[in-house]
Formats: sequence, structure tokens, C-alpha cells
Amino acid sequence: MSQLEERFAAHFGRAAEVVARAPGRLEILGNHTDYNQGFVLSCAVEQHIAVAMAATPGRVCRLKDFRDGSERTFQLDEIGPVARRDWSNYIKGVIVELRKRGRDIGGFDAGILSTVPLSAGMSSSAALEVAFSFAFSRLFDIEMAPAEWARVGQGVENYYLGLKSGLLDQFSSIFGRKNALILSDFRSVEVRRTVALPVGYEVVVVNSMVKHNLVDSEYNVRRQDCESATAKLAEIYPGVQALRDVSVEQLEAAKDRLELREYRRAAHVVGENDRVLRGVEALDRGDVAAFGALLFASHESSRVNFENSTPELDYLVELAHTIPGCLGARLSGGGFGGITIHLVEESRAGEYAERISAAYRLQTGRTPEVIHCAIGNGATVQEL
Ligand code: GLA
Repeated sequence: MSQLEERFAAHFGRAAEVVARAPGRLEILGNHTDYNQGFVLSCAVEQHIAVAMAATPGRVCRLKDFRDGSERTFQLDEIGPVARRDWSNYIKGVIVELRKRGRDIGGFDAGILSTVPLSAGMSSSAALEVAFSFAFSRLFDIEMAPAEWARVGQGVENYYLGLKSGLLDQFSSIFGRKNALILSDFRSVEVRRTVALPVGYEVVVVNSMVKHNLVDSEYNVRRQDCESATAKLAEIYPGVQALRDVSVEQLEAAKDRLELREYRRAAHVVGENDRVLRGVEALDRGDVAAFGALLFASHESSRVNFENSTPELDYLVELAHTIPGCLGARLSGGGFGGITIHLVEESRAGEYAERISAAYRLQTGRTPEVIHCAIGNGATVQEL
């Protein structure tokens, strides 16, 4: 019996019936491209959320988080609106999204264990949504295509929580592949292919420790800017449905027709799509240096064009330029705080972590969390 199953049994006085696990994710390249129908290179990580669950006869749902001991209880027929900053929102939201699709569940007991850092930019919220989705699917016999489950999680964010995010987080948590990056196309909503990370390198995550709460950030405003830029570009270039359809050259030629803010936001997204495709080519030919340079270019574009960086994230990326062993670094995920990712020579990763921590602490007074990430598989569910 796993530790989670044991704790479930001890707490609820009965055995769990299913266990689902869903990983966090890292956005490797392709920032804010997902809701612009573009490309992203991402991976699932070994850090994950595991949920043990058993059905109960009534309409009561009991949740226990074994990490911090917190508990929630709610009635299926009294889900109501979102409660500010409450982790049960993610679970209630999944139930609301399922109902929109004509599916319902019965009462249940659920116990949770997690190794995904919270609110950092590794998508702990998507992992929670996907883990519960997969557990519900097995326990209550709900059949849906995996991409539709990703939309359920996105729906929780978009409609229940009010964050107009794309599909990247849930999609990566579901479709991640061990030891590989996935190249996703968010127009066709599919994994185009897997891409091997070069041998001898690893992704080191450095958390700026400045909290990341996208609902309160300018995330939705950035999305609006992208939409208004798209509408103007569509008037100039018929056939443009999303920033995905605009080339770097077309955007430059149309610069005067956009407000400077719209141009910059679009330049970031159009540039990111281009960098993702060039990044895959670079990895295919084993050119790690070129790939690393694209990571740095991505961060610079976040800083200047998309303005979703922070002084702390900028400082971590500046340090990456100066510490030996790092080929590229950038903010990862929504931005406005959270984590940076660093592509580092494996043999120097330990020393790199020490040096960047010391320098960051000295400059900011904060001790950064450094996480060595192994690339893991997507979500699973198992009947016990
Ligand atoms: C957050 C969102 C994703 C995506 C990234 C930025 O993680 O949830 O949908 O937009 O930001 O690429």
C-alpha cells in the first residue's frame, strides 16, 4: 500500500478505490502562445499531485490534504460561487465543468498528497484539476477524450476562477512523456511530436519566491491586448484568425497600424512561435547553444515586449548569463513572478545551484528554492 493509501485508510476508516496522479509542468519555450493558437515546447515533471478517492452513498464530498492537514467538506448540491483563494475551488470547478457537459458525480472522500510547489509557475492548480478529473472519470465512469479533460481544467480557470488561461498546463499534465519535451500545437490541440532534451543537460528551476497569483495579475489584460492586435491584423491580412497566423515580417510591416502596446504584445507571441519552431530544429541538429540562446531571447522579449517579467526574474536570468555551465534561461509560465528555468550542464548543476542561490540571496535577501526537475509521464489513474 502506498503512503497515500495508508493515510487515506487511517483518516477515512476505509480503503480508497482509485488513485490518480497528475504532474506539474514546465513551459520550456513558447510563452503566452497557447491561447493564440500557437506552439509550445513543454514537459511534465516528476513532481505531482496524487489523489486517493472512494465513493460515498450520499451527496457529501470530504477532502483532506495530507500535506498541511487542511480539510474541506461540501455538498454536491450547494457548490455555489468561488470562495476567494480556497484550494477546494479547483475541485468544485471540475464538478461544475462536468455538469456543463451533462455529467455528474456522487459523493466521495478524497485524500491528497502533493510534491508540486504551490503558486510558483509549475501548475499545481492544473495538476489538482487533472488528478481529480482522472479520479472522477474512473470512479464515476465518465468517458471523455484526454484533450476534453484538459478543456475541463481550462474551464475551471476560465469560468469558475476568472483566469482566461489557455490549455497548456492541463494539456502538459495529461500528455507529458517521460524524458522528452512535447511540441504541442494549440490550433489542432494535439501533441505534434516529442523532442529529446540533449544528453548531458538538465533543466534547473529557480523560484524567485515572489508569489505568483495569476488571477490578480495582468494576465487577462495581456490576453485582451493579444485579441485586439489580432483583430487589427485580421483587417490587414485576410485569413488571420489568431497571432499564430502572423509572420514576423507581416507584423513588422503592420507596425504603424497597431498601438505600440498591441505591437509589443504581438511581437512577443509571434516571436515565441518562431522561436519554438527554431528551437526544435536546433535540438534536432544537436545545437544546444542555439537552443539556449533562444531561451535567453524569449526572456528578453517577456521583459521588453510582453512586460510579464519582474525585477527578481530578470535578475535570475542576468545571473544565468554570468555563471558557467548555463546555456539559457527564461521565466516560465504566466510570469509576473514565479519561476525561471535554466538549461544547465548536468555535471555542473550542483555548483550552478549553489552559486545562483548565493548571488540571488545577496541581492534580494530572499533564498530561492532550487528544484532539479526530472521529466516525467502524464497523468494516470489506477483502480485499487
Ligand atoms: C499560464 C497559463 C497557460 C499559459 C502560460 C503562459 O501558465 O495557465 O495557459 O498561457 O501561463 O504561456
